[in-house]
Amino acid sequence: MSIKIKVENLDLFYGENQALKNINLDIEKNKVTALIGPSGCGKSTFLRTLNRMNDLIENISIKGKVEVDGEDIYKSDDVIKLRTKVGMVFQKPNLFPMSIYDNVAYGPKIHGIKDKKTLDKIVEESLKGAAIWDEVKDRLKTSALGLSGGQQQRVCIARTIAMKPEVILMDEPTSALDPISTLKVEELIQNIKNDYTIVIVTHNMQQAARISDKTVFFLNGDLVEVNDTNVIFTNPKDKRTEDYITGRFG
Ligand SMILES: Nc1ncnc2c1ncn2[C@@H]1O[C@H](COP(=O)(O)OP(=O)(O)OP(=O)(O)O)[C@@H](O)[C@H]1O
Ligand SMILES: [Mg+2]
Repeated sequence: MSIKIKVENLDLFYGENQALKNINLDIEKNKVTALIGPSGCGKSTFLRTLNRMNDLIENISIKGKVEVDGEDIYKSDDVIKLRTKVGMVFQKPNLFPMSIYDNVAYGPKIHGIKDKKTLDKIVEESLKGAAIWDEVKDRLKTSALGLSGGQQQRVCIARTIAMKPEVILMDEPTSALDPISTLKVEELIQNIKNDYTIVIVTHNMQQAARISDKTVFFLNGDLVEVNDTNVIFTNPKDKRTEDYITGRFG
């Protein structure tokens, strides 16, 4: 077991309002970690601290430490490099109004890759990695916005993979998808997890149970409990975790 991300004594305030309270967490490399908890407990806020997506919010203050591969990400100025290493997939597919090909090639192009053959290869490998290649290979030059929501979300994952990240953060990536697309995205997560460290926020307990190795339960800005997923769902140590997973609140 090796630790990819280490969070120590992390506090986060929006103005006066404390959204994260002294969070300590080790996130293991090449595992899927699920973040669960009721609405407003700080899951998205926490996820965004892992690649500094909160940086631009006004009146925010962050204390404590987040280390990726042993480096304190808040001590480095290279946020672009950080976000390349720690990619993110959002709740709603957010493709650009351009072709499928150009969406996936966009990041690598910005990073200076111009050679067409190299780009073709990255696009194909990324779409294959995101389990969407067969569905789109004959329409790569058509608008990405013509795809279904579930297809768009997998192209979003392909776009993230194209940047060759080491960590992928996902904030409720399937909440806007139908059950079949959800299953496809879940399968895809299972298939790629050996190559990436994945942190996923989900409101769907079955999903957390199906796809994650570790589960973290948040409540009111506190990290209440973290353990192997099967332990959290069968034998939680904290009464509040038990109440939540058995549907007594939240
Ligand atoms: N940009 C912001 N400015 C001020 N307060 C915020 C901001 N974003 C979130 N908050 C507050 O921080 C707390 C945690 O919000 P967060 O979005 O992290 O919760 P969440 O667990 O992701 O909820 P949900 O399950 O509904 O997505 C909430 O009280 C929320 O109102
Ligand atoms: Mg959220």
